[in-house]
Amino acid sequence: MTKQRTTTLAHYLSETSPTELNTVISAITSASIKIRALIHTAGLTDIYGSSQTTNIHDEEAQKLDLIANTIIKETLLDTTVVSAIASEEEDTLCTPSVPPQKTRNYVVLIDPLDGSSNIDVNISVGTIFAIYDDIKENPLSSCLQPGRNQIAAGYILYGPATMLILTVKNGVIGFTYDPNHDTFIVSHPSIKIPDTHQYYSINEGNTYRLRPESLNFLTYAKSQHISSRYVGSLVADFHRNLFKGGIYLYPGLIEKPNGKLRLLYEGNPLALICEQAGGNATNGTDNILDITPKTLHQTTPLFIGNTALVQHINSRD
Ligand code: AHG
Ligand code: MN
Ligand code: MN
Repeated sequence: MTKQRTTTLAHYLSETSPTELNTVISAITSASIKIRALIHTAGLTDIYGSSQTTNIHDEEAQKLDLIANTIIKETLLDTTVVSAIASEEEDTLCTPSVPPQKTRNYVVLIDPLDGSSNIDVNISVGTIFAIYDDIKENPLSSCLQPGRNQIAAGYILYGPATMLILTVKNGVIGFTYDPNHDTFIVSHPSIKIPDTHQYYSINEGNTYRLRPESLNFLTYAKSQHISSRYVGSLVADFHRNLFKGGIYLYPGLIEKPNGKLRLLYEGNPLALICEQAGGNATNGTDNILDITPKTLHQTTPLFIGNTALVQHINSRD
């Protein structure tokens, strides 16, 4: 008979995090449980497809992108410990009508649903989040801190199983959602990225838009017989490489030198998780976590995964 794991997220948080941070992470995960339920039945409830609106990145938002954004935003604003939320789906910061009164408050940066091109086709998507202390000058400056100042980061992957991958800066821990008990349970107590370079993940359809240094890396990966895997949902591609070993690349393109991915709510949280798991992330020259952001929605080239492979990008000619 197999043994059932039983340590809940609530128990883990009570032992590792201050109460207010615990409140924020619990709010995100309870929102994610609602999002999970909607994703599971989206084909039955007419919430697939485009919302017919575009976001600040001039990308068409899907209905579920906006629904996920609303669920997380409202849940976080209800906590009374969140002073601002920056979201991929909001042009500007969301702030509560009554500023939080607690001594320790947070700002949260979110990609409510990552992988939206995959929503309609039943491929894994996710929610990515970064949490910072509110440094109290103003909410915007709290959001524009370098990624290294994150106090917690994580993602929820809505796959065959729903998983939470979390760091509160003492390693990386994986939880699996248990639908029978409606809670997340510790399933992967200490996640380390393997040293083996199993996979490289890039949209190779962009080959003729890549700059020479990225092309050189592709040639190197192929010369090493590293296998290619690309789903097109950053969370899913990152998650596979975190568990199996490898590198995810979304380089700058000739006509888009800063690439596509967003530094604050895609690059930074995944970079912190990766570093806490023994890996590394760069924009090609600088460690992602050392970049001081200038704007909420800025994009960055992203190379993230095994340290040795990421160093290969950094050491290019
Ligand atoms: P989002 O759905 O949050 O806008 O993010 C989409 C991102 C990311 O998930 C994925 O890795 C990347 O877009 C895929 O882009 P391409 O289709 O250009 O490969
Ligand atoms: Mn995304
Ligand atoms: Mn998104």
